[in-house]
Amino acid sequence: MRVGVLAEVASGECRVALSPVGVEKLVGAGHEVFVEVGAGVASGFNDEDYEAVGATVTDRDSAIGTGGVLLQVRISGTHDADDNVRAHLTADHVLIGLADPLWQATNMADLARTGAQILSLELVPRITRAQSMDVLSAMATVAGYEAVLLAAASAPKMFPMLMTAAGTVPPTRVVVLGAGVAGLQAIATAKRLGAVVEAYDVRPAAAEQIESLGAKAIQLEVDTGDSEDAGGYAKAQSEDQAEQQKRLLAPHLANADVVITTAAIPGRASPELVTAEMVEAMKNGSVIIDLAAERGGNCELTEAGQTVVHNGVAIHGPTDLESHSPRTASRMMSNNICTLLDHLDNDGELILDREDEITSAMLVTAGGDVVHPRVQEALEVGS
Ligand code: NAI
Repeated sequence: MRVGVLAEVASGECRVALSPVGVEKLVGAGHEVFVEVGAGVASGFNDEDYEAVGATVTDRDSAIGTGGVLLQVRISGTHDADDNVRAHLTADHVLIGLADPLWQATNMADLARTGAQILSLELVPRITRAQSMDVLSAMATVAGYEAVLLAAASAPKMFPMLMTAAGTVPPTRVVVLGAGVAGLQAIATAKRLGAVVEAYDVRPAAAEQIESLGAKAIQLEVDTGDSEDAGGYAKAQSEDQAEQQKRLLAPHLANADVVITTAAIPGRASPELVTAEMVEAMKNGSVIIDLAAERGGNCELTEAGQTVVHNGVAIHGPTDLESHSPRTASRMMSNNICTLLDHLDNDGELILDREDEITSAMLVTAGGDVVHPRVQEALEVGS
């Protein structure tokens, strides 16, 4: 296989889709790897590191070539900065990266016209066989960790309880809303820093995982029996349930120093869990980190990519936390992608078998059209 690794064009993106370790694996398996000049620099990987393990470091056009696999963290043409990649794509290209297809359906339709096939890393199915390809989980792990570091740096107090000659310092109280992959990592990280942690998730199964990390699971008297879909993801709540949830969460938030929100519903806007009124009831100096900022946020006052201070409460809406640990994030993503390529490799040829559960779940465009049913639906809704 010919594999091209493109530099990122989305602003603030510091990750790279393939690390030198990934190149070594692919070259060892007999593939040819072309890396765009400087692609790994922001992650701490120099061009020489790639060359040393057998990659050809080259300009953008040669990295794209006339066909083969193209790897990019955020697929060009789907995010804020576009570039000329579209003009160079052919029906012999297979693009693999984060395409954000359910939100960028129109861009998917545009890219489809090039004839290229796009495999979207957001759509790796949540099945045991695909766990080692699950980029969303890997990235959520980094984001959950970084959210706590951001909170700790922003809060006016230290996290652990301290008993010193200068007196006893009480620990920071952290509330985590949404205990999926990012939320659980946030709980574990806040605990390691010595905070007292409580967490809530609409899926009843999450309570056990929260407790296993030494945090207290917040139990609300809300009917959430039907809160999970067949894939293990949360379903949207009814308006009534959402109102009850907010009312019952309010006293927990009023008592918190730090609130980290991670609640998400795949393909939909994030649920609002924290209203302006709830923020106004929080203590001066409290901090909210809203990991759902890119999808509208879990807090009514969140602005994506900004920090808003309301009534003495700092509300952060970071959208690039994975890029705060780009080396770790790239290393994890690169491992995920190598496993995926290994799965698709059929005696040195990349085969996209639509009967395969993993390929069919991820394939967004082929033969000039959008072929993924959920992206087709998103296109219809958009139009
Ligand atoms: P996500 O990023 O879609 O959502 C984050 C969390 O928000 C979820 O735990 C969800 O239940 C919660 N949430 C949604 N609406 C909420 C509300 N109104 N109030 C409170 N919480 C709310 O989910 P993520 O982190 O990607 O994973 C979700 C599930 O998938 C988890 O059960 C996780 O263990 C499972 N999973 C399974 C994998 C596999 O089998 N390969 C891999 C990764 C995750």
